[in-house]
Amino acid sequence: MTVRVVRQMGDPLLFARAQEVPVVSSAALSQLVTDMKDTMAALSGAGLAAPQIGVPLRVVIFGVHANPRYPQVAEVPDTVLVNPVIEPLGEDQEEGWEGCLSVPGMRGLVPRYRRIRYRGFDIDGVPIVREAEGFHARVVQHECDHLDGVLYPLRIHDLKFFGYEATLFPEGYSLPDS
Ligand code: NI
Repeated sequence: MTVRVVRQMGDPLLFARAQEVPVVSSAALSQLVTDMKDTMAALSGAGLAAPQIGVPLRVVIFGVHANPRYPQVAEVPDTVLVNPVIEPLGEDQEEGWEGCLSVPGMRGLVPRYRRIRYRGFDIDGVPIVREAEGFHARVVQHECDHLDGVLYPLRIHDLKFFGYEATLFPEGYSLPDS
């Protein structure tokens, strides 16, 4: 089990474009994904992108399960996505609160496409194609943004809706970071 250090906003690597994975099924990729899963689990995250642990490759993981801490959050299947591509389904966007393991303690209101189709490969090189909406779609868009060097604060329309979680939600409203 290897929990890696998560890079935080200000680190230039988080603002760089990550590279495509050249060989999707490899021992190195397998090790990377294991470390990402260990790190995400240790931090109770909803998702994690490889650049967040300092690896500039196009790999994301995500997954959310029923948790009494987050009763308003829909479940998201545990997924490893290599070289992902997102296609919006329609123009509809909606605002929702997000947090990021690279921006600890903060929350922001971020517009995202409501419905998307995403594609990529699993760790064995098997293609994945899925349609998603709502929180599932939001998490995937957040993670894939990391691969293009975009952190969620860059997408906030009104910075009055960016702040410390404890201040924004004194009654303890909470979401998993990703
Ligand atoms: Ni994030």
